[in-house]
Amino acid sequence: MKEKINDYIQQTGGFEAEEILKFAYSEFGDRLSFATSLGEEDQVLTDLIAKAEPRIRIFTLDTGRLFQESYDLLAKNQKRYPMAVDVYFPNAAKIESMVKEHGVNLFYDSVENRKMCCGVRKVEPLQRALSTVDAWITGLRRSQSVTRANMKTFEWDDANQKVKINPLADWSLDRLREYIQTNKVDVSPLHEKGFVSIGCAPCTRAIKPGEDIRAGRWWWEAPEQKECGLHNNPNRPPAKS
Ligand code: ADX
Ligand code: SF4
Repeated sequence: MKEKINDYIQQTGGFEAEEILKFAYSEFGDRLSFATSLGEEDQVLTDLIAKAEPRIRIFTLDTGRLFQESYDLLAKNQKRYPMAVDVYFPNAAKIESMVKEHGVNLFYDSVENRKMCCGVRKVEPLQRALSTVDAWITGLRRSQSVTRANMKTFEWDDANQKVKINPLADWSLDRLREYIQTNKVDVSPLHEKGFVSIGCAPCTRAIKPGEDIRAGRWWWEAPEQKECGLHNNPNRPPAKS
């Protein structure tokens, strides 16, 4: 499947996000799933999936440390859209021993601890969620961060050995917000309070005007550290500085 990535990119060149979703389903069917974090990008994708191809499977990773607003938004989606969402939880025994050994807020103590927590709460559940698919869809956009600047609409996800599909790769934040307004897409009320990229509550804060989009995520770490293990792609060429 890895060899097909360039074909996919060529076949879908010039496609709108909706057409990419249709193409992805025609290619992978039920061996395809969309990962939603309930962020703005993912809310737009959920809306596009409902319109373009509602048979696409959807999952979310409930880390146990999400904002109440994220759960409220998930509940809204469950009422508004016909698609069911599979919710994956971390392994309880692993959480219990991690918290016992390193403390409940271990992520503030070191990058190593933060990655351990992301490993238990996000990466292991992601691997379980991906175990039944050949390809997954994400809401990643190139302009989100230095670590994502060279991303393509179709990529080979080496860590998970899956095709990764990013239909909004070339969307700007303005375009995203325009879609949200025009289509009355539900988004987290946190966005109005200065939150842009939203993850777990203890690791996300609002940003000030002019600050980098990802400045509110793991704000105590350097920008090049700010990936939680869901999206580390060694095949992606390094971003130009
Ligand atoms: S993260 O790696 O820093 O946490 P980010 O919040 O930017 O990721 O989200 C990027 C994409 O990763 C989302 O559009 C979504 O596809 C996926 N993702 C992130 N967090 C989750 C989650 N909790 N559940 C499912 N998918 C997620
Ligand atoms: Fe843990 Fe923070 Fe990572 Fe969430 S974002 S899994 S709380 S370290």
